[in-house]
Amino acid sequence: MLSNKKIFPQGLLIVAAVVLCVSVVNAQITVSVDPGPRPVGKDNPALATCPGLVSAKFPLAPQCINTVQPPDTHGNGGAGQVISFQSNLTGLWFEGLAVFEVPAVVGPVAQTGGSTFPGLGPSFNAISCFQCHSQPAAGGSSPNKKTPGFPNGNPQLGDAPTMAQLAALTTSPGNGIPPILDPTGNGPVREVRFPKGFAGNSGLNQGAVTAGAVANLFVIQGRTDAPAGCAIGQEPFQAQLLAGNAIFRIPIPTFGEGFVENTDDTTLSNNLKLEQNLSGSFFTPPLGIKGGFNHSGNDQTISRFGWKAQNKSLLIFAGEASNVEMGVTNENFPNERTHGNGQCSPNFEPEDQVVVPPLNNPPNAPLNDTRTVPDIFNAFGGLNGVGNSAVSSDISSNIQNFAVFMRLNASPSQCNFNSGVDATTGFAKCEPLGSSPIRGGQIFGSLDSTVPGSLTSTAIAPAGAPPTIGCVLCHSDALRTTTSMTPELNNVPFRPFSDFAIHIMDSSLSDGVTQGEAGPTQFRSAPLWGLGQRLFFMHDGRTSDVKTAIIDHAPTVGTATTCTAAMGEACEVIKRFNNLSASDQQDLLRFLRSL
Ligand code: HEC
Ligand code: HEC
Repeated sequence: MLSNKKIFPQGLLIVAAVVLCVSVVNAQITVSVDPGPRPVGKDNPALATCPGLVSAKFPLAPQCINTVQPPDTHGNGGAGQVISFQSNLTGLWFEGLAVFEVPAVVGPVAQTGGSTFPGLGPSFNAISCFQCHSQPAAGGSSPNKKTPGFPNGNPQLGDAPTMAQLAALTTSPGNGIPPILDPTGNGPVREVRFPKGFAGNSGLNQGAVTAGAVANLFVIQGRTDAPAGCAIGQEPFQAQLLAGNAIFRIPIPTFGEGFVENTDDTTLSNNLKLEQNLSGSFFTPPLGIKGGFNHSGNDQTISRFGWKAQNKSLLIFAGEASNVEMGVTNENFPNERTHGNGQCSPNFEPEDQVVVPPLNNPPNAPLNDTRTVPDIFNAFGGLNGVGNSAVSSDISSNIQNFAVFMRLNASPSQCNFNSGVDATTGFAKCEPLGSSPIRGGQIFGSLDSTVPGSLTSTAIAPAGAPPTIGCVLCHSDALRTTTSMTPELNNVPFRPFSDFAIHIMDSSLSDGVTQGEAGPTQFRSAPLWGLGQRLFFMHDGRTSDVKTAIIDHAPTVGTATTCTAAMGEACEVIKRFNNLSASDQQDLLRFLRSL
């Protein structure tokens, strides 16, 4: 059965856990420190080969890159795993995973040959979803040099035209690595927005940027696949940086997205009301947590994806990311964002769309592709029984493949903060939580009524349990999906450590950008599941240190007694964090690195 290939050998895990489970004593600690990210482990060759071996849609694309993480004992499948073990859905997920990793090229179609898709540019931030979403596994967040497959760190540095191409370039302005990125490769993947916009400069073929919109880092000018006659100028990043008109965003992992998408508005509203009530009734002084939701302008329901919860659905996000990050126009966003001198778009619009069978020479298929649906079914149907999935994936647009992949991504597992890797195999391990992170979880707090000592439980808290400081009143651990035709998503509890609400944060976090109902200081409570293996934190990736990320919620409060409005809604909670003993802080940090 194909799904078995992805399941981590659980027996082995349990043995390792029993041998290595050591309880950690903090008695001597005077300063708490972030224990650092849990290692990803080696690319596990047994798990690395994508079942189905090749993608039906991109038969010549490289095989999946896969550093799948082990599942935990709570039923979380682990980052890089598929949620569903029904053969057709699982097959479709593998097909989507492959498309997520396929790089885009400018085109035209004839150049793509089944290993790449057309449509890159005229301006772009990276060449595949995977470049930005890869730590600790495909679908994740920004990689660094420790991420398997990324020896040079930030892959965007390789997305600028090569030095040889640049040397041959005589046009101005240039097209190099913008000063937005850390040239050593140690910094996070970034995209940039110009809060005050930029008027553009037609003389230099530089595009205008609407206030608050994404300004792409690269242009295709200088690439060997750029159309002859194409002239497009890179945005003036240095000048905008100097003018204080550039803010950064880093990628958000896409694990567990199906749960988030499938949660009813009523569930989210009730959860927020519960948080607001407990913030006032349980704590003295009251914590002052308010929050609100961002909504879709189209149907007025709660939107929930993105740093400001500005996006409604996975399909919409996939369409937006496709066009904004890579410049690939699609069914959701059919028009190019930038034009240069008007000679930079060699393809049909949209560049990515549903293909109507038979597949011989549809507009965007490789020109030599004379396969028909039965051909594809026969070619791929023999492999692991994913024939139907292969046909569905091949006919579907890329953005549908991305959305299916993300929807069926399992949620990250919770493993002891020092689980480490197996000494013999080098693969990541997942051990049960030790006493210190369990205690840290009690300090964080819980809204799950089945957890003794949680804010909503009548069961007596365990002896010696510390009082909670209320992090959970934004980072909720007790949500539930509504009904779904996918059994794994049908009316199930999940623990994202987010309420998907937007909260007013300290003015030092303000990015000057408004998206929907979220103003410059408002951000979605960042979901903390998977945090144990994340490398960069906060919307702009300002830190790699979890403790700094916490303090940065309200950096000026320090040990001050009063929170001001400018310090944001999290201030009272952060004051409590600052007042914890070093040992209690250490427990909390270990809990966070177990997520
Ligand atoms: C250049 C890097 C980059 C590329 C390429 C990229 N992303 Fe992202 N992704 C980001 C950033 C940055 C964010 C946060 C955006 C924001 O909220 O402002 C993000 C956020 C997301 C989210 C929101 C997740 C959540 O839970 O809120 C989804 C979904 C997503 N990306 C999907 C994709 C898909 C699909 C692709 C390929 C079509 C893709 N991304 C390509 C950088 C990238
Ligand atoms: C008032 C709501 C609120 C409270 C209370 C709160 N947070 Fe947050 N948290 C947020 C928001 C909003 C963000 C995203 C901020 C940004 O990106 O600028 C965030 C981000 C984080 C991050 C970075 C995550 C990432 O993906 O980059 C960590 C870690 C974190 N919070 C931990 C905590 C801990 C621990 C506590 C308790 C001491 C806490 N938070 C209390 C709202 C809150």
